[in-house]
Amino acid sequence: MESLLIKGGVPLHGEVTVSGAKNAVLPIMAATLLTCEPCMIHRVPDLSDVKFMGQILTSLGARVAFDGSTLRIQARKINGVGDYDLIRRMRGSVCIMGPLLGRLKKAAVSLPGGCVIGARPIILHLKGFKALGAKVTIEGGFARASARRLIGSDMFLGGRAGSTVLGTANVMMAATLAEGVTVIESAACEPEVVDLANFLNAMGARITGAGSPTITITGVTQLHGAEHEVIPDRIEAATYAIAAAATNGEITLRGARGDHLHAVFDKLKDTGVNIERKGTTVTVCRKGRLKPVDITTLPYSGFPTDAQAQMMALMILTPGISIITERIFESRFMHVSELARLGADIEIEGPSAIVKGGKPLSGAPVMASDLRASAALVIAGLAARGTTQVNRVYHLDRGYEQIDSKLRKLGARIKRIQGP
Ligand code: EPZ
Repeated sequence: MESLLIKGGVPLHGEVTVSGAKNAVLPIMAATLLTCEPCMIHRVPDLSDVKFMGQILTSLGARVAFDGSTLRIQARKINGVGDYDLIRRMRGSVCIMGPLLGRLKKAAVSLPGGCVIGARPIILHLKGFKALGAKVTIEGGFARASARRLIGSDMFLGGRAGSTVLGTANVMMAATLAEGVTVIESAACEPEVVDLANFLNAMGARITGAGSPTITITGVTQLHGAEHEVIPDRIEAATYAIAAAATNGEITLRGARGDHLHAVFDKLKDTGVNIERKGTTVTVCRKGRLKPVDITTLPYSGFPTDAQAQMMALMILTPGISIITERIFESRFMHVSELARLGADIEIEGPSAIVKGGKPLSGAPVMASDLRASAALVIAGLAARGTTQVNRVYHLDRGYEQIDSKLRKLGARIKRIQGP
């Protein structure tokens, strides 16, 4: 298995281009199942999750062709039952269920099961399908939904932690081909949901209100092919911005959507980091000593849970006490014990981590446990004295396009090696 070897202590400098958003392209790829016509998707990031979704669509009968960062998909003839093992291995693939139900009036996917960051049930997805008139069962490890007709209806999709991103996406996709009007209340407002709605509308859907907690979908009888450019990845952009602050460097993010990052930039400014936005270019530069801040993760437009671990890596470098509270996932502190190997002082109290920051870090071998935790370990390794070895980097490759070569271009001493 591959690992990353990082010699820390070098301030990052230079420009980095932000890739297309993983969490936008996955549901957009699934949405191509709603039509038998060809679709073209641009700015597709080169990630293992994207390749995986391609395999899943192929297992359903679609034709999938990658051409650099452009993807051509045609789901002329498809079946409603996805490959059990393939789907089980990637949670994000649950979002094929809505399009299959919308188009074929039946769908069966293997239950995604929990992951290291939490139980992650799909109850709300199924609740939405039921509200559209589908019969839903969970049997033999499969979640199944079927209906003779789908009828638009009003529904509330809020749950324990507020809205659900993929739940909103799934139900919105099924409702595009339902009869009548569907209104989703407590819908997720994430930019990735808006990007999906824009793609669906380009396919001939009639969706309004995406980006707000109330989304209205007026059903149509069929959808056609479309072409779309995916939004830039706000979490990748946030990760590089935090790495610039952690290494006392200056980075220019090219092709970023600063308007998707208000909560992150607001906190970075509070720590004393300078953020300069010009169009789709954002320059991040640390000016002197960092100040501790408290963070609570919330649904969009609050502070993203997907940037929590990276922000913790910055706070361990910051003199003083900061409190980081995770409100979205019940066990998203897997990075804490690994950061402690580098010398961090963090205590967990219920949903909060109390970070006593400012102690210099020293490099050590650490283990990645999930995508964002591994990004935090890379940031801490870049700031630590000596050498850090991050093992199991396959977690990183799921969500960061060419992270080691991008960091090397910014001056980092980082290389990929065969690990344990
Ligand atoms: C999406 O996951 C993202 N994944 C996650 O990014 C991200 O962390 C999450 O949204 C929150 O922003 C993709 O888009 C592929 P949720 P999703 O449903 O949709 C609970 C990353 O690092 N819930 O919004 O699966 C759930 O358990 C990944 O890129 C229910 O209780 O997340 C969680 O606590 C990790 N019942 C909360 O809601 C349900 O039916 C939010 O989950 C559904 C969700």
